[in-house]
Amino acid sequence: MNRKYRKTLIAGNWKMNKTPSETKAFMTELKAMLPKGRWCDIALCVPAVCIPAAVRAMRETRVGIGAENCNANPSGAYTGEISTAMLTDAGCKYVILGHSERRAMGETDEEINAKVKAVLEAGLVPIVCCGETLEQRESGITEEWITMQIKLALAGIPEEKSRKIVIAYEPIWAIGTGKTATPEQAEEVCQLIRVVVRKLFGSKNARATTILYGGSMNEKNAYELLAQPDIDGGLIGGASLVPAKFVKIIEDANQPTA
Ligand code: PGA
Repeated sequence: MNRKYRKTLIAGNWKMNKTPSETKAFMTELKAMLPKGRWCDIALCVPAVCIPAAVRAMRETRVGIGAENCNANPSGAYTGEISTAMLTDAGCKYVILGHSERRAMGETDEEINAKVKAVLEAGLVPIVCCGETLEQRESGITEEWITMQIKLALAGIPEEKSRKIVIAYEPIWAIGTGKTATPEQAEEVCQLIRVVVRKLFGSKNARATTILYGGSMNEKNAYELLAQPDIDGGLIGGASLVPAKFVKIIEDANQPTA
């Protein structure tokens, strides 16, 4: 982390977990446990139907609510889809885009790029995910792959909007597997992402960009990961479903930085 130049963000990704009623119960519990003071930004990205309950519960707090996906079109005949205007009106602040689980369902780099543009246009914060498979890592193409994913996701974004973008590095082999990247492995790729952002948007913007690590980050390994200079927070799946674990990670983000 480097709090001097950029924001720290601890973001939960609930995936397809919790009902609206469970959301209300979770938020009530979390609210009572949240550390006082303004340490870092906190986000919880939840299933679409849980957004109203989450927003209502967290209204008076510094926890921003987010969605896990959206459609890039403003409105129209897209059965089952949700627009950025709907998310904004519902009180969302963040949207996760390009998660590997959605890419595995067929989402393309071009679609992700269109979504990033739509989300920025709506004034929401995109959390843009990238990450390599174990096979790609073992064949030595991680750097090339991540560079390509970032360049395609951020193509055509005007420089002045780039600072709002949060990038999450999530190695696919670490997601939901309990197999976390080592702090060195995670730092290496987050540093590379910052180099790519620098080439796209210049050094000032790159220095101000929040880059997260995700993939089995939990209350036990968060401190060490967050101690890395280019890891500005976490995108947390499993551990964000349990208030005590999520709060411990938030507390771990409150460590001295260089
Ligand atoms: P995990 O999920 O923390 O359960 O590995 C992270 C993610 O997919 O965002």
